[in-house]
Amino acid sequence: MAEGNPFQDPLRFERRAPPCAVVIFGANGDLTKRKLLPALYRLAYERRLPAGYVIYGNSRTEMSDDDYRARMKVAVKQFLEDSPFEESLWEEFARGLYYVPGDLQDKGFYTTLAERLAQHEAQTAGNILFYLSTQPSHYEPVVQGLDAAGLSRGKGWRRVVVEKPFGYDLHSARQLNEKLQQVFPEQEIYRIDHYLGKETVQNVLAFRFANGIFEPLWNRRYINHVQVTAAESIGVEGRGGYYQGSGALRDMIQNHLLQVMATIAMEPSAMFEPNAVRDERAKLLRSIRPLKEEELCTHAVKGQYGPGRIGGQDLPGFRQEPGVDPESQTDTYAAATFFVDNWRWAGVPFYIRTGKRMPKRVTDIAIHFNSAPLSIFTRDNHQGPSPNLLIIRIQPEEGISLRFLSKNPGGGMRLRPVSMDFNYGSSFGVRTPTAYETLLLDAITGDATLYTRQDMVDASWQVVQPILDQWANTKFDLPNYEAGTWGPQCSEDMLARRGHTWRIP
Ligand code: BG6
Repeated sequence: MAEGNPFQDPLRFERRAPPCAVVIFGANGDLTKRKLLPALYRLAYERRLPAGYVIYGNSRTEMSDDDYRARMKVAVKQFLEDSPFEESLWEEFARGLYYVPGDLQDKGFYTTLAERLAQHEAQTAGNILFYLSTQPSHYEPVVQGLDAAGLSRGKGWRRVVVEKPFGYDLHSARQLNEKLQQVFPEQEIYRIDHYLGKETVQNVLAFRFANGIFEPLWNRRYINHVQVTAAESIGVEGRGGYYQGSGALRDMIQNHLLQVMATIAMEPSAMFEPNAVRDERAKLLRSIRPLKEEELCTHAVKGQYGPGRIGGQDLPGFRQEPGVDPESQTDTYAAATFFVDNWRWAGVPFYIRTGKRMPKRVTDIAIHFNSAPLSIFTRDNHQGPSPNLLIIRIQPEEGISLRFLSKNPGGGMRLRPVSMDFNYGSSFGVRTPTAYETLLLDAITGDATLYTRQDMVDASWQVVQPILDQWANTKFDLPNYEAGTWGPQCSEDMLARRGHTWRIP
């Protein structure tokens, strides 16, 4: 247990949040409404928030505490997903919810905020979690404003949670790190990557390091290749402006999917303790070999959807979405082949892909094992790629399946692939917490295991930067896949070079 922190439990069994205030910048935005407030409400429902907690929202819109409460009530009701909304609990929750309007560029605002927070000091013991859910261009003025108003230090702890995008490229990510670290010490900076908070991503650690049977196979001798897929059926959902400047490689691979890959491929840490786990993740990210110039065309693929159909519905192409340039070169699909330069993984391809407007929403990891060295059941039987496949389903149905060949009932030695399935929902029969519930509670209790550190962010930008640079200097023939399909042909070609094909999830 971290010394001097009675609220932290490394195995995360008993998690009591200490008294504190949570201040959300960007409190009228989409993320706050869809994720943060519902997550805080759920934590209150589970009695995981301390008595007398205080939550402050800020945005530029003028409104009273009561107006803000009314707006958030609508949002929480709408976005609670599978949890019940209870009127009496909301009343209790809303008593700790406040609002302070203000312009983030205005120094006076931080003084007002400090005064408001000081009024609650008896309840919060001076502990404050600042959550930056604003446009990234505000990150710097906010931390400087907090510092100038004396809010970055004082009685109790002061932490800052930083939302993605964490930088636009390697250079801007380093600058941002520098600015944050001028105000907050690294151990109080919580860079959030909500994929690390997903139950099934956490379960990869349990699956690998709590069982003796998989780890001996988890290396280049038995694993042929790994496929990580994060497909979304949605398009850019009114975020055309943001997305156009970002693209799939920045939006999903640089952060979420490289973190997922690190979780699959990292070495076991000596103990389950934030820095020990993060050291291993960081080491793995540093071992991913950045693509060489001559590999950029063959190991990375850019795609953009054109008009198409999903579920019988006609859909516009990306270039027809509101706020998008009709000549846009932005990637709504990105795929890459990465190699990990270490003894465990040398020579094993990790294929990573993500795309918008794919036929369905599914995120999974497929570990393809080598074939049996010799098949004695050849006639009419399974030939071609190895049937042994371990699939870790991150969403929407969370679980793990192992595929192998089995004898078909009846005479003759006919074989066919079958699955052994573990399903989270039916095995545990309880609701799984959302990633934001887990991660918010982690930040409040001071557990950074599932947060990214400066060196991890740096390492993952180093992996994608050569691809981004090449893409910025090349004109692609886009769109190159129809909405509702599994991406461009060049992505299939990328795998075909090694005799592999993308699995249809
Ligand atoms: C966000 C991206 O970080 O992750 C979005 O900005 C994407 O574009 C989202 O849709 C996917 O998250 P999830 O949890 O729905 O898989």
